[in-house]
Amino acid sequence: MRQIANKSPEPNFISLNREFLKPNSRINADIFILLGKRYTLYANKDMQISFNHLNRLKSRSEKKVYIRNADGSALYTYFEENIAFILSKEQVPFEEKAEILYQTSYSLIKNIFENKEDLSLLQRVRPFIKDILPFLDRYHMQFYNLIKLYKSENYTYSHGINVSAILIALASKLNISDREQLTDIGVGGFLLDIGKAEIPADIINKKGVLTHEENELIRSHPIIGAEIVKKAGLLSPITLDIIAKHHENMLGTGYPKRIGGQALSIYASMAQVVDTFDAITSDRPYSQAESKAVAVKYLLNRREEYNSRVFLSFLEIIGAEGH
Ligand SMILES: [Fe+2]
Ligand SMILES: [Fe+2]
Repeated sequence: MRQIANKSPEPNFISLNREFLKPNSRINADIFILLGKRYTLYANKDMQISFNHLNRLKSRSEKKVYIRNADGSALYTYFEENIAFILSKEQVPFEEKAEILYQTSYSLIKNIFENKEDLSLLQRVRPFIKDILPFLDRYHMQFYNLIKLYKSENYTYSHGINVSAILIALASKLNISDREQLTDIGVGGFLLDIGKAEIPADIINKKGVLTHEENELIRSHPIIGAEIVKKAGLLSPITLDIIAKHHENMLGTGYPKRIGGQALSIYASMAQVVDTFDAITSDRPYSQAESKAVAVKYLLNRREEYNSRVFLSFLEIIGAEGH
């Protein structure tokens, strides 16, 4: 993953737009400013960021503050906790906010995968999605198209935020406007493949042909995923449906349960098409990213697998021609 925010001239520091400092909040890291060429301690890690601090930065026309590289994870935690404030900053360009949102999401999912016993991490997902919903709702495909340009080190970690962004776009196209419902949909997208956390990475990332047993194991990830989020107390039927059924299809030829037709909710159908599209257009360990046109062609060849109303709305939001 790329370094958060912008690399400062000094490799041991990360720069941060001062607009992202929230009054009366605290980053669990020392904050520095650049005086000439010297990094000078500005606020101690135990101190709250006061209005006074912020006014002084403004009066010095200081646009940036700096944090030690070693405090990177404290910065991600700060971003996560204050993401609504950060994304609401009208004076900061969309691209800068989008990158922070992407990096923070990536870091949260990575953290969840690497500490799968810690259910409290999973419990942070719904409040996070609720906080980012206004931004996703406003920029959805613009945000998705931008983050697809970033190089992701790990497909599984970037897939969740990608899927959430398109799902929110698709939901508005389908006239779903209830905030709680949209949040549940976003959470489902974010944690779509969480079941893969229980499957050895060398099987998930295997380049060659999978054995029958390996294939069976991978095909169990929707069920394992639903169990994991239930254990963490995420009980929304919409979220669970998305996670458990995103590989089922209308013909009943999907997995793991071959549920088809009427038995598939609109949420599962939405996840099914979005998941496939994002997978095909992403670099994965075993295949290179295809263009949007190739992905659309793939989907059109299998259109009877998709809920037709969902499918047509999906083609519209991604701007596919000739359907
Ligand atoms: Fe999946
Ligand atoms: Fe997936």
